[in-house]
Amino acid sequence: MKKEMEKIVALCKRRGFVFQSSEIYGGLQGFWDYGPLGVELKRNVREAWWSDMITTHNELIAPEGAPKPFGMTGVETTIIMHPSVWKSSGHFDLFHDFMVDSKESKARFRVDHVSVAVAYASDQKPVACETYMADIGEEGLSKTKRKRLEKAIAEYEKDNNLSNSEEPQISVCNLMEYAKMLADAGIPATGKLEARCPDTGGELTEPREFNLMFKTIIGALSGEEGTAFLRPETAQGMFVNFKNVVDSGRVKVPFGIAQIGKSFRNEITPRNYTFRSREFEQMEMEFFCHPDESFEWYQYWRDRRYNWYIQHGINPENLILRDHTPEELAHYSVGTADVEYAFPFMEENEYGELEGIAHRGDFDLRSHMEGKLVREGDQLVVEKNEHGQPKYKGSGKDLTYFDDQTRERFIPHVIEPAAGADRATLAFLCEAYYEDEQPDDKGEMQSRTVMQFHPKLAPVKAAVFPLIKKAGMPEVAADIYGKLKKAGIQAVYDQQGAIGRRYRRQDEIGTPFCLTVDGDTEQDNCVTMRDRDSLKQERIPIDDIVAEVQRRIHG
Ligand code: GAP
Repeated sequence: MKKEMEKIVALCKRRGFVFQSSEIYGGLQGFWDYGPLGVELKRNVREAWWSDMITTHNELIAPEGAPKPFGMTGVETTIIMHPSVWKSSGHFDLFHDFMVDSKESKARFRVDHVSVAVAYASDQKPVACETYMADIGEEGLSKTKRKRLEKAIAEYEKDNNLSNSEEPQISVCNLMEYAKMLADAGIPATGKLEARCPDTGGELTEPREFNLMFKTIIGALSGEEGTAFLRPETAQGMFVNFKNVVDSGRVKVPFGIAQIGKSFRNEITPRNYTFRSREFEQMEMEFFCHPDESFEWYQYWRDRRYNWYIQHGINPENLILRDHTPEELAHYSVGTADVEYAFPFMEENEYGELEGIAHRGDFDLRSHMEGKLVREGDQLVVEKNEHGQPKYKGSGKDLTYFDDQTRERFIPHVIEPAAGADRATLAFLCEAYYEDEQPDDKGEMQSRTVMQFHPKLAPVKAAVFPLIKKAGMPEVAADIYGKLKKAGIQAVYDQQGAIGRRYRRQDEIGTPFCLTVDGDTEQDNCVTMRDRDSLKQERIPIDDIVAEVQRRIHG
């Protein structure tokens, strides 16, 4: 079944998973709120990650596939950090996109998302172009624009006494590549070769850099002195606390520091629902290890993180682990793989990133010791300013690690699994959505919408119903409900409407277990437990309900 994003979005609003931020004022692009069910779902996603990384981790034994036992610990660091952090890390200089604006409509676009279809004549010269303010790929050129380009080729060839191109050559690239191609060939971007806004036909500005970090002002200081940034990633909080954690804790390399927290990026084109937001939450872990063992640890974390999504209900058919090509790798990275999901808003065989697992070498700790690093050949060196001094000085603190068993001092290498809590939540929402047909109370087939969340992630674990609102059933049901709540199990109590309709309401929000108190309960002291996915109904003794629900959630 091809899932329709519109239906998922509508359900999320109708049942209280996700709302647009500040909706009554028209909303704010790139910002989203989680409603009563969404907040529970996202908390469960975070909890599943934290539990896997920290709570259930046993540092005395090597988990399956791990090269050896290792330590894990958590931190919670501030959203606003010393501005030097972002200068040393490279974000201040590098964390930007190139943008163009339509001069008339004022709409702003990422240069690498603007497509230019270029027509080449038989002498290989570019003669005309058509612009799209979107990534259209080779296939997306419209008939009208193709005709215009073919006409331009024919006119140019006629004017220049060239033989007619048998197959007019038209290729699509992005605006950045187009501008570079013209500049390299020494051809001015004027007339038919000028990329223009397709909506207004008007001019586009020159590409301009746009920093993605949100600026803010600390205290009463104004100007550069008081300028600080909302963090664009949680990772730097772990790097700058590496020494604190080593000095204060019992951890020894290899170990990981995990953190969950908000990050902010002034994305130019927030889109695809919560997928690309301006305020979002990350679940990042920095794993510090000996350089000689780093590649083994990279392989371990890459596979372990991919499996985490499958263990929590993502169908492997919809999930890929994609290794970056050498061209895609960040300048400091010797290996990166992305966990990617086939979101319903993507084309067939296209996937969106859920998480990146990167081998970052010693880039981060060195940057915070020495200052901003740049690549020179195969070396990372401190970037110098025009006076030959470090462009941005590091902290100057010693962030090396001394292994008191081997008596070796070294800068640990870092493996970083960096996941998005909102993207993971969106993937779990999309994956859970199903429509099927099930018999109603009278045995007639009815269509049903069901959210097949993994029980660990389901926002509500159990719903308790009295079959009818009399004969003592509401009291027994309320008592069971109270016991579930007391045990910390997310539950609801519902006595409104026919039992079939109550089941449908719970299916639509993904409640895995419905417990019904009926006419037999008084005699057998049992309730009917109905499973959302198999629809199997079983009698369970009231005294065992809490334990049974917990067993089914945690396996
Ligand atoms: N420390 C490395 C880092 O931040 P990233 O690939 O930029 O790497 C990690 O971000 C994860 O954070 C992404 O895989 C994605 O899940 C999430 N993420 C990044 N930008 C996001 C955005 N604008 N909206 C929602 N999630 C985002």
